[in-house]
Amino acid sequence: MFARIKSLDAILATAEKKSLHRSLGAFQLTMLGVGAVIGTGIFVLTAEAAQKAGPGMILSFVIAGFVCAVAALCYAEMSAMVPVSGSAYTYSYAVMGELVAWMVGWALILEYAIAAGAVSVGWSGYMVGFIQSSFHIHVPLAFVRGPFDGGLINTPAMIIAAVITWLLVIGTKESATVNAVLVAIKIAALTMFVVLTIPLIRGTQFTPFAPLGFGGISGAAASIFFAYVGFDAVSTAAEETKNPQRNMPIGLIGSLAICTVFYMLVAAGVIGTVGAQPVFGPNHEVLSPGTTALSQACMAIQENAVVCSKEALAWTLRQVGHPFLGYLVGAAAIIALPSVILMMMFGQTRIFFVMSRDGLLPAFFAKVHPRFHTPHVVTIITGVFVMAFSAFFPVGLLADVSNAGTLFAFGAVSIAVMVLRRTDASRHRPFRTPVVNVVAPVSILGCIYLFFNLSAVTIELFVLWAAIGIAVYYGYSRSRSYVGRGVDGDGDAVAPPVGG
Ligand code: ALA
Repeated sequence: MFARIKSLDAILATAEKKSLHRSLGAFQLTMLGVGAVIGTGIFVLTAEAAQKAGPGMILSFVIAGFVCAVAALCYAEMSAMVPVSGSAYTYSYAVMGELVAWMVGWALILEYAIAAGAVSVGWSGYMVGFIQSSFHIHVPLAFVRGPFDGGLINTPAMIIAAVITWLLVIGTKESATVNAVLVAIKIAALTMFVVLTIPLIRGTQFTPFAPLGFGGISGAAASIFFAYVGFDAVSTAAEETKNPQRNMPIGLIGSLAICTVFYMLVAAGVIGTVGAQPVFGPNHEVLSPGTTALSQACMAIQENAVVCSKEALAWTLRQVGHPFLGYLVGAAAIIALPSVILMMMFGQTRIFFVMSRDGLLPAFFAKVHPRFHTPHVVTIITGVFVMAFSAFFPVGLLADVSNAGTLFAFGAVSIAVMVLRRTDASRHRPFRTPVVNVVAPVSILGCIYLFFNLSAVTIELFVLWAAIGIAVYYGYSRSRSYVGRGVDGDGDAVAPPVGG
C-alpha cells in the first residue's frame, strides 16, 4: 500500500524543471491567505453556527481556529521543506505513498470545488438581500434559492460561478494589487461591524449560552471551520514564493491569526446585539440549518432572527439601526466574495494540474489554451461542477462537505510531518513545527473530532466520495501513474503560466 512513494528529491527536481516564476513575498502571501480565508464563513455561516450552538458559537470559533492553528503549524513545516505546488497531495505522495496521496488529492477536490460552490451561494444571499433592500422589490425565492432552502434553483450563485470560470479561462489573475484592495475592503467592513456592534453588546444576550449543549457547540465548530479554510491556499503558492523557507510559515500563520481575531470580535458583536438563539420547530424540535423545516419555521416568524438571515452581518446592522452601513457591509461582501471563489477554483485547477503531471489524471487535464495560456479544460470542468453544486445545494451542506475533505487533508499532512521526522530526520527543515510530538497528534485528534461532529449526511457523502475515489484509482490511475511505471513524469504536461 505504501510502496509507491515519490521521493522528496524527485518532487523537488520535477518542480525545479517546471518551476513557476517566484514572485511572492511574506506580505503578499499573508494577504493571499487573508484574501482566501475571509468569506462566506464569517459573512453567512455565522447564522448557521448560531442555529447549531446559540451564543456558544463563540466557543465554536475558538475550537475551529485552534484546530486550524495546529494544522497550520504542520503545514508550515511541510510547505517550507517541500515548496512545490500541490500542498497536502504532494506531501502525502512523498511520505505515505501514492494511494494516500490520491485519496488526499481526491478529498482536496471536495475542499476546493465544493467550497467554491458554497461561497457562490453565500454571495447570492448577499446579492439578493442587496437588491431587495436597495430597490424594495421582492425577488421570487424560487429563482434565488436551492430546493432545500425554500426555492428551486439558485440562479445568482450559478451566474457568479460561470463568470469566475470565464475569468479563469481567459487568464484573469487577481493581481497582488487587486487582492490587496479586496482584503482592505473586507477588513474595513468587518472593522466597521465590530466598532458599531461591540459598544451595544448586552450581557443578557449570552444566556442561555449553550441551548443545545456542548454537542451543539461542537457541531457548529465543525461547520464554522469553513470560515478558516483557505489559508492552505498559501501553501499551494509555494512554487511561486520568494524565500519560501521564511515566507511560507509567516504567510500561513499570519493570515490565520488575523482572521481569528476578527472572527471572535464579529461573533461577539452578533451575539451581544441581536442575540443568537436557535429557532425551534412548532413542537420545540431542534432544526438543522439548510432544511425545509427551518425555512418554514423562519417564514412563520417573518425571518426575524439572525439564524434565518442569508446575510447575517448586514441583517445585524440593519437591526441595530444602521441600515445604510448594513448596506455597505453587504456591498463589501458582494465585491469581495468573488475573489474567494476565484482563489478556490484556482486552487482546484492547480491540484488537478499536479495530479495530471503525475499521470494519475488524464494528460488533457493539463492542456493549456493556445491563446490564453491557461489550463482551460480543467477550469471548465471545475466550473461546470461548481455551477451545479451552487444551483441546487444549501450553503451549509456545501460548506460541511468541503470541511470533510479539508479535515481529511489536514489530518494527512499532520501525520506526514511526524512520519517524515522519523524517516528523513536529517533533511534540512527551514521551519520546524514546535513540539511536533504534541502539536501534530493534537492536530490529528482535532481533525477527527471535528470530522465526526459534521452532520451524518455529510459523513455519508464523504464516504461515498472516497469509495468512488478508490474505484477511480484502481480502475484508471494506478496503471497510468508515472511513479508506478517508473518514468520520470515529464509527459507532455506543461506548467501553465502563473495565474493561468
Ligand atoms: N474561508 C472561506 C470562506 O469563509 C472559504 O468563505
